[in-house]
Amino acid sequence: MAQPALKLSVESQYEKYVNPQWVRLLDLLRMNIRYTRCEGVELFTDDGRRYLDFLSGYCVHNTGHNHPAVVAALRDELGRNGPAMLQSHVPELAGELAAALCSRAGGRIAKVFFCSSGSEGVEAAIKFARAHTGRHELVYASGAFHGLTCGALSLMDEPFWSKGFGPLLAGTAPVPFGDLDALRSQLAKKTVAAFIVEPIQGEAGIRVPAPEYLAEAQALCRKFGTLFVVDEVQTGLYRTGRFLASQHFGIEPDMVVIAKALSGGLVPVGALLMSDAVYGSVYNSLKRAIVHTSTYSENGLAMRAGLATLETLEQENLGQRAAELGEILRNRLRDALNGYEMVKDVRGMGLLNGIEFQAPSRLRLRVAFEAFMKIHPGMFGQVAVMRLFRDHGILTQMCGNNFMVLKAAPPLVVSTAQIDEYVHGVHEVVKLMHAGASFWAEALGLARRAVNI
Ligand SMILES: Cc1ncc(COP(=O)(O)O)c(C=O)c1O
Repeated sequence: MAQPALKLSVESQYEKYVNPQWVRLLDLLRMNIRYTRCEGVELFTDDGRRYLDFLSGYCVHNTGHNHPAVVAALRDELGRNGPAMLQSHVPELAGELAAALCSRAGGRIAKVFFCSSGSEGVEAAIKFARAHTGRHELVYASGAFHGLTCGALSLMDEPFWSKGFGPLLAGTAPVPFGDLDALRSQLAKKTVAAFIVEPIQGEAGIRVPAPEYLAEAQALCRKFGTLFVVDEVQTGLYRTGRFLASQHFGIEPDMVVIAKALSGGLVPVGALLMSDAVYGSVYNSLKRAIVHTSTYSENGLAMRAGLATLETLEQENLGQRAAELGEILRNRLRDALNGYEMVKDVRGMGLLNGIEFQAPSRLRLRVAFEAFMKIHPGMFGQVAVMRLFRDHGILTQMCGNNFMVLKAAPPLVVSTAQIDEYVHGVHEVVKLMHAGASFWAEALGLARRAVNI
């Protein structure tokens, strides 16, 4: 008689049925840990260890993990047994959240389309820009990350993400971030529907623009009839100190995409904020009342997550905290890392920060660095990430489109003591990197294994 199959552990079920490559990668980096409890900035594991989160799930956890106020609001919403996804009523909470978002965004923003991810918000922005302008071309900034759906991917020039998935949208073109002449020559054709840009480029390496760049880009858009769209999926919700990073630069975009932190780290929610004029070009008759929508858009739990998150961010003054602690973090990092030749720059705004590394010039280090880069250029930063995790209990990552920039983006509830712990950990790893032997021996071994699996 056939034996019943042995029940796989939850982890092996993931490996067998979801994404075995992801499990292999985490194993290789020795980051495959079972977390049992996450609170604020701290992550606790089943074997009694505790990690500090300086990644925030790529800026999802602005309020910290499982903030009690957000959790309570969601429990309350579930307890109401109210209408969820009827698709046939007016969801009041969506109105409440949209009003709150519009009043905080200000400028031209007067309407909101809700969705469930940043990519979906970008897709909506593409469609709405085309509907409004009657043009189809789109311009974006080199190195951008806008999401992995086909439209969003068409606005990214890093081939790693798009290889094998084409053809993507026609009529899209990159311009270097910060280059107004290049933007002008694209827009002057008067065939471009939208210029879409992250106010501070996240995955490209935490690139903060010159103070006048965004306002001048906006002026060019207005001059040539192009919509100015800002992707605040990482930078929004007080991450950089203000509700939107755009607000540091005095701009009034036609559309703004937000997502990630609006969820409170608990229920997926994204939103495309737009002007009345853009709204009117899309939903312009009764017949078109639902011409662009999505099943989970406006669902009660997501709307409650958004409202509770906004309330928490503001009651706890987390914008001001991000601005003040960001300054402290950058200053302490600069002090600690001063004089190490492989540290090129420490930069950012609020609690969205990066440490940029560079090739060493001292011969002994350069030989090791170059040997390593020949085998696997992407792995250099991963060794630092792995060391920080394993030796210092700090979770972070390199930027997705720039493997030489390490992130420093903790939840906005981070304390100065936790910042000191991060700075100490980074300093120790940088010291080791410059001391030679053990860091580079491990790095070379890891790079070889990564090539072979
Ligand atoms: C700036 C930016 N835009 C858009 C996205 C896509 O968001 P999502 O992963 O929710 O689709 C991301 C995701 O990391 C992002 O960083």
